[in-house]
Amino acid sequence: MARGLIAICLITLLACSSVEGRGLELAHLNGAEHQSVGDHVHGVVANVTVGGFNFQLNLSNPKLVEELKIKRSDFPSDFMFGAATSAAQSEGSAKEGGRGPSGWDHRMETLPEGSLSGGINQEGIDHYNSLIDELIKNGITPFVTIYHFDMPLALEEKYGGLLNRSFVNDFKDYSELLFKKFGDRVKHWFTINEPNILAQYGYELGISPPGRCSLPSTLCALGSPVKCFETVGPCKFGGNSSTEPYVAAHNIILAHATVVKLYKEKYQEQQKGEVGIVLASQYFLPYTQSEEDKAAAGRLFDFYLGWFMGPLVFGDYPQSMKERVKDRLPTFSAEEKVLLNGSLGLVGINYYTSTYAKHKAPPPGEALRYSFDQWAETIAIQDEEILGVTNSHWPEGLQRLLEYVKDKYQNPKLYISENGLSDHKDNDSPLEVLLEDPYRISFVTRHLYRINKAIKNGVNVKGYFCWALFDDIEWGMGFNRVGIYFVDFSNYTRYPKLSVKWFRAFLQG
Ligand SMILES: *[C@@H]1O[C@H](CO)[C@@H](O)[C@H](O)[C@H]1NC(C)=O
Ligand SMILES: *[C@@H]1O[C@H](CO)[C@@H](O)[C@H](O)[C@H]1NC(C)=O
Ligand SMILES: *[C@@H]1O[C@H](CO)[C@@H](O)[C@H](O)[C@H]1NC(C)=O
Ligand SMILES: *[C@@H]1O[C@H](CO)[C@@H](O)[C@H](O)[C@H]1NC(C)=O
Ligand SMILES: *[C@@H]1O[C@H](CO)[C@@H](O)[C@H](O)[C@H]1NC(C)=O
Ligand SMILES: *[C@@H]1O[C@H](CO)[C@@H](O)[C@H](O)[C@H]1NC(C)=O
Repeated sequence: MARGLIAICLITLLACSSVEGRGLELAHLNGAEHQSVGDHVHGVVANVTVGGFNFQLNLSNPKLVEELKIKRSDFPSDFMFGAATSAAQSEGSAKEGGRGPSGWDHRMETLPEGSLSGGINQEGIDHYNSLIDELIKNGITPFVTIYHFDMPLALEEKYGGLLNRSFVNDFKDYSELLFKKFGDRVKHWFTINEPNILAQYGYELGISPPGRCSLPSTLCALGSPVKCFETVGPCKFGGNSSTEPYVAAHNIILAHATVVKLYKEKYQEQQKGEVGIVLASQYFLPYTQSEEDKAAAGRLFDFYLGWFMGPLVFGDYPQSMKERVKDRLPTFSAEEKVLLNGSLGLVGINYYTSTYAKHKAPPPGEALRYSFDQWAETIAIQDEEILGVTNSHWPEGLQRLLEYVKDKYQNPKLYISENGLSDHKDNDSPLEVLLEDPYRISFVTRHLYRINKAIKNGVNVKGYFCWALFDDIEWGMGFNRVGIYFVDFSNYTRYPKLSVKWFRAFLQG
């Protein structure tokens, strides 16, 4: 989940269990398939049996009944399923063995100073080596994200981190070290996680490191002024919200392209792996059918996805960004455009929810900045099908987003690299209660159904990783029960939630 940072670790690992060629069976719907929706005044609550486990789901939504029928065997046999975690966000050290989804979570540095000249931490290298071996031994394919919200402080202090073009070269050196050390076994790499969030939170709003911004006063960054989740400002660490997000993103784009080129030229032939980037987006549904709102939706896609997809696929920023940001948007030289051409690689999509898009002019009298440049606001979609939790989610939005990416960006190879939801329970409830998460099973299943639909419509999606493997620390929000494994944070003992049992049954059929 994409929030802020403060991380020490340089490496993030996505673990993916690939149980190939196994037929799998999802929910065997006990009665639900035969139950006609609307029969019962209070909605249809059906008992669902999964691999011998019984739980109840509210099946009042006809779409839900359809979506829950998805099975492993509906997917291509090489489609990968897994659960993602990040080194910086998970505490503890116990590693689960066995056939279930697994991953690792140690804090470990491989380049303590952030650049090769600062020296390599051999202990870090050894650690990840044995971890990768262990995963592979257990039939798990590791996906590695090189930079997941964890800029080494040393680089921040040395030259301003992402704001300085020097970052490109240091990131290249760091990536090369990982390719050299782990590339014999790691075949799927993502360079950078959620660069739009890095740039916006770190340099426009200043709510995650390095906390730079130039906002006139304290304001509400997330939520509404009435119910504000996160306030912004005062800006204490310098910055320029009008320009720096674009500079940071520009250097990220060049760093990604440089690393993809490096891999293609020096490592791909031998290692036969692939490198890509992880982007976070929603589907943006026009709030009304007015031309203004449709254009607003288009701009939001551009400012979220096109900011990176544009340069990496077409060699330049989207037209809508050039028009609105004007000379605050850096430009690519002819030489850089050649570098960018074809440098996208794999794309990980982090998807949680979708929103409406509504036209909105920037407030008069305030300096323009990333949020205002969009000329749009987002408005929550209230989905009627929310199963026991307050998160609003819209699985169909994922299908639409995938189809949008296919059509607009030359059908790249995609992975759903994050997708999930949090528990909202009283922590003092008995453990059995805390482990019951039928709404998560429903959530994942419904998104899988939508991914499958997208595949049937020609989208090149190759895998799905739910977020997260473990309850973790979600940036700025503290402990978050977003895992399929429950973590007792007093001693880091882990317990599988019902969704783990479901996932196993789904995969093993
Ligand atoms: C099932 O969901 C519907 C729609 O959200 C709701 O109206 C109904 O009360 C729910 N039924 C139960 C038993 O929770
Ligand atoms: C589901 O199973 C429970 C326990 O076996 C039972 O009490 C309940 O009546 C069942 N509900 C439905 C809707 O079949
Ligand atoms: C970038 O960092 C170098 C040192 O590595 C420094 O000399 C240069 O002034 C920095 N450039 C900017 C724009 O901060
Ligand atoms: C941000 O940079 C722009 C362009 O250089 C400049 O016009 C503006 O005054 C700067 N804002 C602040 C708050 O420094
Ligand atoms: C990008 O590369 C392809 C060949 O891989 C070439 O046909 C195309 O002209 C290039 N586009 C640009 C903008 O350089
Ligand atoms: C962890 O703490 C819980 C109480 O919060 C306790 O029930 C459990 O036995 C502990 N587990 C271990 C392995 O110490």
